[in-house]
Amino acid sequence: MTKVLVSDPIDQAGIDILSQVAQVDVRTGLSPEQLVGCIGDYDGLMIRSGTQVTAEVIEAAARLRIIGRAGVGVDNVDVPAATRRGVIVVNSPEGNTIAAAEHALALMLSLSRHVPHAHASTMAGGWDRKTYVGNELYKKTLGVVGLGKIGSHVARVARALGMDVAAYDPFISAERAQLLQVRLLPLPQLFAEADYVSLHLPRTPDTENLVNAALLATMKPTARLVNCARGGIIDEQALADAVENRVIAGAAIDVYAKEPLAADSPLRLVKERLILTPHLGASTEEAQENVAIDVAEQIRDVLLGLPARSA
Ligand code: NAD
Ligand code: MLT
Repeated sequence: MTKVLVSDPIDQAGIDILSQVAQVDVRTGLSPEQLVGCIGDYDGLMIRSGTQVTAEVIEAAARLRIIGRAGVGVDNVDVPAATRRGVIVVNSPEGNTIAAAEHALALMLSLSRHVPHAHASTMAGGWDRKTYVGNELYKKTLGVVGLGKIGSHVARVARALGMDVAAYDPFISAERAQLLQVRLLPLPQLFAEADYVSLHLPRTPDTENLVNAALLATMKPTARLVNCARGGIIDEQALADAVENRVIAGAAIDVYAKEPLAADSPLRLVKERLILTPHLGASTEEAQENVAIDVAEQIRDVLLGLPARSA
């Protein structure tokens, strides 16, 4: 009997597809030891970002043929270890593009108008119309770092809001930038000029702690920073200090160097001008259905002996 383990919450549409060809066991919240203990029974594994598929898990996965990541980033999968064992790794590169872009835009707007803090104050009985005077996005400069699928959608919507959009992305062409009506700038200039910076690049050894105290210090004191891409790209202590000391006007963060965010993270100590969400970029009903169907179809095809697209 072909068996697939689903170890993170996945939309039912994906489970229905997998059930056409396999027995599907949904077992979320497994400890690393439990996962190592049971993975040997499975031909396929479907995950989101919660499950860490380490070399040890792959070593124990004697029957495993495919790992499907219902999302973009495969950074929670040891892909070299999987490749060594001949296990295919697939993902859904486009299923949550709009969701992540809209979350970045929602954070940018919320940050500008102090929505979470004004809400908390009003719910606590206040009626404070002075503290929460905000700023408009119209005619401001947005700096997009990483002009890929999500960054491009953010740029398009920002243009429609009347923003001037600049971008830093060493891998995209001048033609592509021109098509999106975006000016390409070197990274230091983009941080120095922008009123808003939104990160949409991957976490790699090159981008780790890219946004550090020195780069934050070059931003305008009125500038705001949004990270809906990956944790670890921003030095979190440096960001907490920059917001606390008004080096920048604010920040909104969805992703963290270590998730879930530690109880004693310096970010949790910043009470004003900082918005934190728990990795919600892809959490729309539409995106979860898209990525579940996309990845489940790829797993199904491989289990049927058909070729798959590699992540
Ligand atoms: P993408 O591959 O389409 O775009 C990434 C872009 O970053 C590419 O254009 C690439 O050239 C550029 N890039 C690479 N290295 C760079 C560098 N050093 N400096 C500047 N640009 C660089 O990916 P995408 O689908 O747009 O996703 C972007 C990021 O968002 C990824 O890290 C992804 O994991 C993350 N993401 C987060 C959520 C969430 O829930 N918060 C949801 C989906 C995706
Ligand atoms: C992704 O890489 O797709 C996102 O981070 C969303 C998720 O974790 O589901």
